[in-house]
Amino acid sequence: MLWTFWCKLFKGKKHGERVAPSEKNQRTWKLHLNSRLEGKVALITGGASGIGESTARLFVQHGAQVVIADIQDDLGHSLCKDIGCEDAISYVHCDVTSDSHVQNAVDTAVTKHGKLDIMFSNAGITGNTDPRIQATNYEDFKRVFDVNVFGAFLGAKHAARVMIPEKKGSIVFTSSVASVTYGDVPHAYSAAKHAVVGLTKNLCVELGKCGIRVNCISPFGVATPMLVNAMGFTDKQRVDEFVSQIANLKEAVSEASDVAEAVLYLGGDDSKYVSGINLVLDGGYSTTNIALGEALKKMVS
Ligand SMILES: NC(=O)c1ccc[n+]([C@@H]2O[C@H](COP(=O)([O-])OP(=O)(O)OC[C@H]3O[C@@H](n4cnc5c(N)ncnc54)[C@H](O)[C@@H]3O)[C@@H](O)[C@H]2O)c1
Repeated sequence: MLWTFWCKLFKGKKHGERVAPSEKNQRTWKLHLNSRLEGKVALITGGASGIGESTARLFVQHGAQVVIADIQDDLGHSLCKDIGCEDAISYVHCDVTSDSHVQNAVDTAVTKHGKLDIMFSNAGITGNTDPRIQATNYEDFKRVFDVNVFGAFLGAKHAARVMIPEKKGSIVFTSSVASVTYGDVPHAYSAAKHAVVGLTKNLCVELGKCGIRVNCISPFGVATPMLVNAMGFTDKQRVDEFVSQIANLKEAVSEASDVAEAVLYLGGDDSKYVSGINLVLDGGYSTTNIALGEALKKMVS
């Protein structure tokens, strides 16, 4: 779509020929850059905080009508108030582990806006933060799977219910860098985020036949309330510093808005032929292995 737009913008020019867009074209180009979801309806689970909140804000900026679904009612309502545009954003109480709640959230979006184009199944929890197997119990493991996997699945199931007759739609899950790295997080969280990738790929095959795309994103550490609490810090800045310290990519901080930009891409038509991918947003962290470097440093010190 972007390419078609460029072609229209520079119609008649040879490939590679540099031209200055006219003032009118510059205005149109700017408009396109800021309205990539014009006419789209999106539902975001876990939309009251962190990555979901950031995505809701970006989606509204790009012209989407957004329904956020969460269990933090006060936060959800105050986010809607803060964004301000009543027709563009609304809140529905929804515990993603409940089939009837998720069904209601999807139906609310369709009743309010007539359709559902984008389902961002994002709600998640860390569970017990002690990574040792002996500290892992059944209740905690089950709760992590109930929210992160079953909840994500219910989002896709009810979204598919209304997307299949339309033969289009985009479903995006939130997995984690824990789906491509090992040993750093609790077993339940790691297993759950791997399951989300499996779900993405399996659903991509079934729903591809119906014109529906299914992808997931795998963020690195982002200083959202979830990570700040999990790390036992009280302020975001200390988490940002910690994450930057362990990051592969320096001179940049991993932020919720970076994740939101990736969801904007996967949710909208710019990714119209992208399905079944796990988009890892980790600044290259998962490609590195610091063991050799660290051992060499110790040897020479
Ligand atoms: N922050 C990170 O470092 C990071 C990294 C990788 C992946 N993730 C994933 O990103 C997603 C969003 O997390 P975040 O970091 O924005 O955390 P967050 O705590 O700021 O947001 C998560 C939201 O999910 C909601 N939620 C939790 N349980 C729910 C339930 N049963 N029903 C409905 N909503 C529920 C919470 O109320 C909250 O608003 C999660 O799936 C998380 O696993 C986060």
